[in-house]
Amino acid sequence: MKVLVTGGAGYIGSHTVLCLLEAGHEVVVVDNLANSDAESLRRVEELTGRSVDFLQVDLLDARALDDVFAGGGFDAVIHFAGLKAVGESVTKPLSYYRNNVVGTLNLVESMEKAEVRRLVFSSSATVYGASENVPLTEETPLDATNPYGRTKEQIEDILSDVGHADARWSIALLRYFNPVGAHESGRIGEDPQGVPNNLLPFVAQVAVGRREKVTIFGSDYPTADGTGVRDYIHVIDLAGGHLSALRFLANKTGTFRWNLGTGRGSSVLEVIHAFSAAAGRLVPFEIGPRRPGDSAVSYADPSAALADLGWSAQRDLASMCADHWGWQSANPGGYSADARAKD
Ligand code: NAD
Ligand code: WQD
Repeated sequence: MKVLVTGGAGYIGSHTVLCLLEAGHEVVVVDNLANSDAESLRRVEELTGRSVDFLQVDLLDARALDDVFAGGGFDAVIHFAGLKAVGESVTKPLSYYRNNVVGTLNLVESMEKAEVRRLVFSSSATVYGASENVPLTEETPLDATNPYGRTKEQIEDILSDVGHADARWSIALLRYFNPVGAHESGRIGEDPQGVPNNLLPFVAQVAVGRREKVTIFGSDYPTADGTGVRDYIHVIDLAGGHLSALRFLANKTGTFRWNLGTGRGSSVLEVIHAFSAAAGRLVPFEIGPRRPGDSAVSYADPSAALADLGWSAQRDLASMCADHWGWQSANPGGYSADARAKD
């Protein structure tokens, strides 16, 4: 297939582009580089020996997007582009709604004009909000608790309505749990700007000496060790889920929703211990207060993806930590040579 990947220079996008190329697909990436570095795609080319057609385009630029589709001949679109920082979405809601929702409207309108009606969308387990009715199934009621999560919920609604209105559309809404890890080469990985919001990149930056210690956000949750439990999924397993969804959509129309998680929960303390083992060094930590908005436990029921797509995550927490460390230790400053310039 010829696949247009929005946000393909980012963390999950770059790993998925790599897997698409390895599977023999042709790939065009559009990304405005708001939260990424085109170096990721250069490295994907180096790893695969294949070239990636990269266009620096903002999804808010509807005309430029139409130009991408004109003569593009795409069979499908995988739509990663979006802003994803929960805390920032609370202070800048308009920028999140505009970028994520309007960006998606522009994309779908361009697709409609070009008669490309096969779409895989990056949704998130965040649409389940604070529900602790685990494991979370696709039928768990949606109840996002912050503007970022609400953009995902709204986009899911918009895409469902589009699929409902025109039976020619094939749409996959993929609800990712907690993506971590990196390609086993250590050449591409997650490169957060500033202080990481998520646990794994923070732990990795402590292990590599960029930060002093991890603060555990609460140890009084009703979990086995008192710390929060999440369903961490290796980014390569996640990328594979997109290829499975594309295969599924190749000969089916309609709108489909799948959780992409492992179905297993790990606590913050388990993650820190697993990372220490992978890195061969102790990761210092302290116990702090709970982070507002966090739930105690979240993990997926991934059985629908197995039944429909034949997909399941294969990699365990040790492998997630080993690959995340492989990337972080080889690239302590991320894609930029100077880590300090970013902080
Ligand atoms: P990322 O920030 O690394 O990648 C997103 C990419 O989109 C970046 O390269 C950014 O430059 C680009 N982008 C943003 N706005 C754009 C615009 N208007 N036009 C063009 N490009 C734009 O994030 P990621 O972790 O790779 O996440 C990819 C997708 O998956 C996002 O939609 C995110 O919300 C979703 N998601 C991520 C996680 C996670 O924890 N990483 C979990 C669930 C869902
Ligand atoms: C994991 C666990 C924290 C940092 C977020 C988004 C969600 C999705 C994935 C995009 C929790 C604890 C964290 C730290 C800690 N993203 N923690 N110290 O909150 O499950 O999900 O990323 O869609 O929308 O909300 O992930 O990595 O932030 O936290 O103790 O410094 O680690 O309390 O229990 P979360 P996370």
